Amino acid sequence: MRVGVLTGGGDCPGLNAVIRGIVRKGINHYGDTIIGFRYGWKGPIENITMELTLDNTRGILHQGGTILRSSRTNPFKIEGGVQKIADNLAANNIDCLIPIGGEDTLGAANKLHGEGLSVIGVPKTIDNDLSGTDYTFGFDTAVNIAMEAIDRCHSTGESHDRVIVVEVMGRHAGWIALHSGMAGGADVVLVPEFPFDIDEVCEHLKHRHARGINFSIVVVAEGAMPKEGGMATRGDAGVDAFGHVRLGGIAQALEKEIESRTGFETRHTVLGHIQRGGSPSAFDRVLGSRFGVAAIEAVHAGERGKMVALRGADIKLVDLQEAVGTMKLVGEDLYDVARVFFG
Ligand code: F6P
Repeated sequence: MRVGVLTGGGDCPGLNAVIRGIVRKGINHYGDTIIGFRYGWKGPIENITMELTLDNTRGILHQGGTILRSSRTNPFKIEGGVQKIADNLAANNIDCLIPIGGEDTLGAANKLHGEGLSVIGVPKTIDNDLSGTDYTFGFDTAVNIAMEAIDRCHSTGESHDRVIVVEVMGRHAGWIALHSGMAGGADVVLVPEFPFDIDEVCEHLKHRHARGINFSIVVVAEGAMPKEGGMATRGDAGVDAFGHVRLGGIAQALEKEIESRTGFETRHTVLGHIQRGGSPSAFDRVLGSRFGVAAIEAVHAGERGKMVALRGADIKLVDLQEAVGTMKLVGEDLYDVARVFFG
């Protein structure tokens, strides 16, 4: 068979592990030819390809990013985009395309499947907010990077008797904030799912400082919002091709509010793209490899319009629709566990 592969959306540690898994099993076991489309959906729209071979996918397992490059190109926002993809897949004699991506890339894949294209999706996002799978690769690496940063903020915060606000990624879902905050022993964790009350946040900090502890760590997801009327945050800075607002500024706003309301000296730090860069964790290398192998097996089993997923300890196939229909959010039960450690 001739199988296409692309990586779309924000990059994510573990993408190369998936590519390597597809290539190893595809070529060695099935005798496939694997065609990489570069720069996300831009690749099949503009026919930017590179053949993926055993040679050029050797030594990439530990590398961050994606050797195929990525973009946030939305094929449904480009005139004739869908037809161009169909034409270029046909021109390359592609039997099935494996898009590796998050809700936007797989949302487009699901729609293209509806238009008659053959696809098998692989879930990717550091945000871990895709439904249908327990975990996406990239999340574990991002959480570990954020946890290490929080650990480092502890020592500098303590040395200076400061509150440190650490902003992590997560537009709609607070998985990174919740996991890194709990793992890093944060004193308050703020997530988009539960709008926060700035007075309550300050009460937690005052309560802690009243016990003679003169420093605190607040972890905040970039998409966390104050309850209406609570405090002002920075406005948005434009949207991407999928209509997502570019966030940022919540940590800075919190720094100001916390310092003025409590009198505690406060600093903020924004981890940003550091969370997405560099080498994947062991968990993400293994999960990415398993997803890659499962995806090419699904292609050969004749499955279409599905996504590989981690369910418990097993890799399963789920409908793409299930993955992109609703976002997986942090629930009240889990957030309640994090709350136990506030203040
Ligand atoms: O979707 C993954 C993600 O890392 C989000 O957590 C973050 O909001 C966004 O990408 C950042 O996007 P960009 O790479 O376009 O700045």
